Amino acid sequence: MQAPARCPLTITVNGQQHTMEVEAWVTLLDLLRERMGLTGTKKGCDHGQCGACTVLVDGRRINSCMTLAVMNDGREVQTIEGLAKGDQLHPLQQAFIEQDAFQCGYCTPGQICSAVGLISEGRARCSADVRELMSGNVCRCGAYPQILRAVSQVAGIAPDSENAEHAITIGTVPA
Ligand code: FES
Ligand code: FES
Repeated sequence: MQAPARCPLTITVNGQQHTMEVEAWVTLLDLLRERMGLTGTKKGCDHGQCGACTVLVDGRRINSCMTLAVMNDGREVQTIEGLAKGDQLHPLQQAFIEQDAFQCGYCTPGQICSAVGLISEGRARCSADVRELMSGNVCRCGAYPQILRAVSQVAGIAPDSENAEHAITIGTVPA
């Protein structure tokens, strides 16, 4: 039987460029976890339903289980492993610790990557917006109040704030 066709791929992950060949059906999530050993990005549902696999591609948060590695040829990926600068945690990582925003921690890398994307999108103006725009990231431990506090803290948003004038349309969550 013929070996499966492999496609060339050049991808930058956490600032490091990689050139390789990969089967066309390999997802970005599996590339990161299985081929690069970056297991900080988690596989929950593998179906775009839980957000555990959220990473940043060219600065935009996406579910890495829902995109093929070859579709990201030439792009820059940032995973949870790339957020800290040496011993200095990313402000969101620090805030998650300060606010006790996790229990088992399985959803946490995805929550933090999603929050990085959310803050750079600049659409969240109150904590109700944060709740809606982070709703693609499920936490089975139910640490939502603490996650909301951590993200709001870094985004400079008052906890438990509502801003009806700028309400986010439900169903527009990108992650
Ligand atoms: S593992 Fe990708 S959304 Fe659940
Ligand atoms: S901390 Fe356990 S799933 Fe979120």
